[in-house]
Formats: sequence, C-alpha cells, structure tokens
Amino acid sequence: MAVFPRNLSTPAGNVLIFAEGDPESAARCAADRIRFAVDAAGARRGKAVLGLATGSTPIPVYSQLVQRHREGDLKFNGVITYNLDEYYPISPRDPNSYRTFMHRHLFSQVEIVPNQTHVFDGTVPESAVSEHAEQFDRWIEADGGLDLQLLGIGRNGHIGFNEPSDLSVEQALALPSRIISLHPVTAADAARDFGGDANAVPKRALTMGIKTIFSAREILIIAFGPNKAEAVAKSIHGPVTAEVPGSLLQTISSKVTWILDEAAADLLSW
Ligand code: F6R
Repeated sequence: MAVFPRNLSTPAGNVLIFAEGDPESAARCAADRIRFAVDAAGARRGKAVLGLATGSTPIPVYSQLVQRHREGDLKFNGVITYNLDEYYPISPRDPNSYRTFMHRHLFSQVEIVPNQTHVFDGTVPESAVSEHAEQFDRWIEADGGLDLQLLGIGRNGHIGFNEPSDLSVEQALALPSRIISLHPVTAADAARDFGGDANAVPKRALTMGIKTIFSAREILIIAFGPNKAEAVAKSIHGPVTAEVPGSLLQTISSKVTWILDEAAADLLSW
C-alpha cells in the first residue's frame, strides 16, 4: 500500500506528493508550513510577511488557515500580506478582482489589519502603473522581505504572472514587479471566471517579479490535477529556462517545497 505523502528530493526542491482526491491533506500540510513560518517570524522579528496567491489551487489552504484561526491556533494580527498579482485594469470591487478573491477566502474570515494586506491596485492610472509596481517591491523590502511565498503554477509554467518568455535565465531572474500582458493560455484558463469568455479577461496584469518572489525566505508551490503535470515535470526535471518560469525555481531549490497530488506528479521520474 502506498504511503503518503511521498517525499522526493529533486533539482527543483523537496517534493511532497499526496494521494489523488485528497486535497485536504495537501492543504493541511501547506497550512502547517505557513503557521510555522508565521510563528517563527513572529518570534524572530515580531511580525510575519506572507506572499499570497489566488486561483483555484490555494482555496483549500485558505480554508485550513481560517479553521486554525477560528480554533485559536493561528493569529493574523502580526501578519502582513502581499499578493502575487492583480488584473489590470480592474476595480477592487469587481467580483473577479484578486482583491475580492482574497477578501472572500481569507481577509474577511480572519482578524487581520486591513491596511496590512497589500494587493496591487488595478485602478492606478496608466501613467502611474510602473511606479506602483516598483513601489510594491520597495514596500516588501521595507517590511524586511517575504518570510514565505505561496505559489501556484500555470499550465504554461507561469509563476505569479511571470509568463513564458525568450529572456535569458539571468534576465528572467532579475525581473522586478511590473505590468505584463497575459499569455493566451493564461487568458484561456482565466475565462472560466469571466463567463467562459477569454475576451472578457483583462489583457494585462500587475505581477510580482521573479526577483521579488525568489527573495522570499521560503517558497511553497502547490499544484493539483493532470492539467499541471506537464508544467510540473518541465519545472522540476527540465532545463532551466525562462520559457518555463517554474524551472527557474531550480536556481533556489534549497528553499523550495512542492506540494503536489499524484495527478500533478504523474510525469515526474524518480
Ligand atoms: C495567482 C497566480 C497564478 C496561479 C496559477 C494557477 O495569484 O499567481 O500564477 O497560481 O495561474 O492557477 P490555478 O490555481 O487557478 O490553477
């Protein structure tokens, strides 16, 4: 009988594989790591700075965090958060904004100081958008950096909205937070939230850069389901290339943990 989670040491970090159909165990594991990071950073410097992700994958993780908060096992009063990305342009009140997503799944469910939650502002005027992205990086630095960054991965290997590109590895690793154009695969996947219409998805987004994400002290990357298997395998075993942004994690593997289900891990070799 298989014992879960399976634990693999790979070029892209430690990989934990959970049984298919058991996202709850995987989410519990991620929530344990987050709670540990919050406690450790709180003890070390009186606050914890978390980088957060949206999308379908982290939803069970947020449920776990909310449950622990309700049980009195996790406090958010010393927690500062920075979200990976936000569509542009979009109102924070739009039901599809990532600000609304975070409000729904976490911020409204826990006692967190509202002005300690940072999500890019999808309403800044075009002329100020680059400055806004640069400011995000400065705020993170001024807060002493990210203690833990939670990531998902796109079918095309994107992390945050750092989309596949033909940049050199060196250039990709230096990418700051900025405005980007969404890749067609990303827009197609996002269409499910926009009534199935890829044309209704905003064409651009603000994203934390690879440099910003990789400066986190610890990275947890989660992927579930067969749709992610190819991106996961290319990221973990493939060449390090900006064409598969997830593969760049191989350059910082000692601080990366992958949390997968069997379906997402299906193309890994060990
Ligand atoms: C979301 C984000 C994206 C998602 C990725 C996977 O903040 O940065 O990189 O993590 O697109 O999305 P899901 O989880 O919906 O498959």
